[in-house]
Amino acid sequence: MRRKLFAANWKMNLDPVAARDLVKAIRAELDPELGALGKEREVMIAPPAILIPAVQQELAGSAIALGAQNMYFEDHGAFTGEISAPMLKAFGVTHVILGHSERRHVFGETDELINKKVKAALRHDLTPILCIGETLAQREAGDTTKTLTNQLLNGLQELDCAQIARVVIAYEPVWAIGTGKNATPDQAQTEHRALRGVLIERADEDTAHNIRILYGGSVTAENVDSLMSKPDIDGALVGGASLRAESFVRIVRALKL
Ligand code: PGA
Repeated sequence: MRRKLFAANWKMNLDPVAARDLVKAIRAELDPELGALGKEREVMIAPPAILIPAVQQELAGSAIALGAQNMYFEDHGAFTGEISAPMLKAFGVTHVILGHSERRHVFGETDELINKKVKAALRHDLTPILCIGETLAQREAGDTTKTLTNQLLNGLQELDCAQIARVVIAYEPVWAIGTGKNATPDQAQTEHRALRGVLIERADEDTAHNIRILYGGSVTAENVDSLMSKPDIDGALVGGASLRAESFVRIVRALKL
């Protein structure tokens, strides 16, 4: 069975005080449950980079994992404004979101750059969460499958099966991010199944079966149960709804209530 991953992407929100308060509130609810739930679900919080030390302190002793929203692929050097995998690791980070649609569309990240970041994350034993997703124009042109397949294969270039098995995929339709328009559970399931098919071809049956494919894009406490009831949806990458303890905790408890 694939262990579900519920990942909070705080994006460029919160300050140190609000971040600590939010983590405290999430821990108060989830820490007592995570011992029992931990075998079947994993929880991760990705704050803005500058809040990572505060969140690391606040998460001490918790089973909740610490993530980053981005990083650069070089370890150190003249790369003004960037942060490397070893730096993230020094602050207890275990997961890193890569190729988020905002990185692709606002900051111009290419598949080639994202692939270098995925390889750097694996080299440093960080779990990469490789985000892929089609725009509304691509969906309307009937190019969803082609777009997702290309982003997936390009993101995984030069990786062997053992490395691919360590990657988490996040399917986030661009038109569903922050818009309140989530993909229907059936739409998401269709794409997740197709992606698993691509992974069978690219890697092998076992790897494709074991890899986790998260859904992201306007996931809320209200729609999470129906999304998580689909067989190929292995968790959620949550933006807006992860900024309030109540909604994020409810999302982590999907199908449990
Ligand atoms: P959203 O963001 O939940 O606010 O739509 C998801 C994401 O961008 O990861």
